[in-house]
Amino acid sequence: MQQHHPAAAMTLSERADELEEQMMNELNDKIASKSVLFQLADGPIQQWKGGPQMQAEHGGKYFLMGHDPRLPKMPDKPQLIDFFKLRFASLNHLLQSATHALKAGLPEKAILACLLHDIGVVGFIRCDHGYWGAQLIEPYVDEEVSWSIRVHQALRFFPDDAAGYKYPDMYIKNFGADYKPEPYIVAEYERARNHKWYGTARQICVNDIYSFDPNAKVDLDDFVDIIGRNFKQPKEGLGFDNTPSSHMWRTLMWPTRWL
Ligand SMILES: [Fe+2]
Ligand SMILES: [Fe+2]
Repeated sequence: MQQHHPAAAMTLSERADELEEQMMNELNDKIASKSVLFQLADGPIQQWKGGPQMQAEHGGKYFLMGHDPRLPKMPDKPQLIDFFKLRFASLNHLLQSATHALKAGLPEKAILACLLHDIGVVGFIRCDHGYWGAQLIEPYVDEEVSWSIRVHQALRFFPDDAAGYKYPDMYIKNFGADYKPEPYIVAEYERARNHKWYGTARQICVNDIYSFDPNAKVDLDDFVDIIGRNFKQPKEGLGFDNTPSSHMWRTLMWPTRWL
C-alpha cells in the first residue's frame, strides 16, 4: 500500500520499534501478546498476526507463558487481598462504598457485596461488569453476595424511593438524559425486584458512591476480617483451586500469556 506521508509513517514506525525494543528488554526477551479483546479497544484489528509470523518478526524468541515481568509479581498462592493490592486499578471506590455500608451498620454479607461490587471494573472489564464480577467470586462467597453483585448491574438504572435510591445525576452526565437501558437490563431488574435478596442488592446501589472523594479516609485493613469470615480463601490460592472461575483469576494474574 502506498504511504501518503512517508516521513510521518517512518517516525511512527521508528517509535514503535523503539517501544518494542524497550518492552522486549523488560520482558527478558519473551514475546508478550495482547489478546483480541485488548486490541478491539482501539478499533477493528487491521492485521491479525499468527504465532509463526510474530515469532519470525521477533527473531524466533519464545512467547511469554507465565508471569509478565512488567507487572507486580503475585504470590504463588494468591488470595483476594493480593489481587486487591497487586492487580486492581483502584481500590478507592470499593473501599468508600464498603465504608459507607459499614457505618450504616449493614450485615456483613451486604458490606462484602459493597466491597466487591465493582471488582469487574477495577479488575478487568467495564461492559457487563456486574455479571463478570459475580462470576469471578461466586465459588467463594454466599450466593446472596454474588447474586446481589450480578443484579446491581441492572438495579443501578432504576430508582427506589423507599430504599432511598434515586437515579444518579452522574448517569445523566455520563449517558445523556435520554439514555434507556437495554431490554436485557430491564428484564433483569424485573426479575430481581421480587427476589428474596432484592434488599441486599439494592444496598449496593444505596452505598455506591458516585462522586469520588479523594479526601475520604478508607483503609483495606478495615475489611480484612470481614473478608476472612465471608470469602473462602482456597489453600492452593485463587487460580489453582479448580473452581469454575479459577481460570479468570489466572488470567488476571497472567494477562499477556500466549495461551
Ligand atoms: Fe457497578
Ligand atoms: Fe460502584
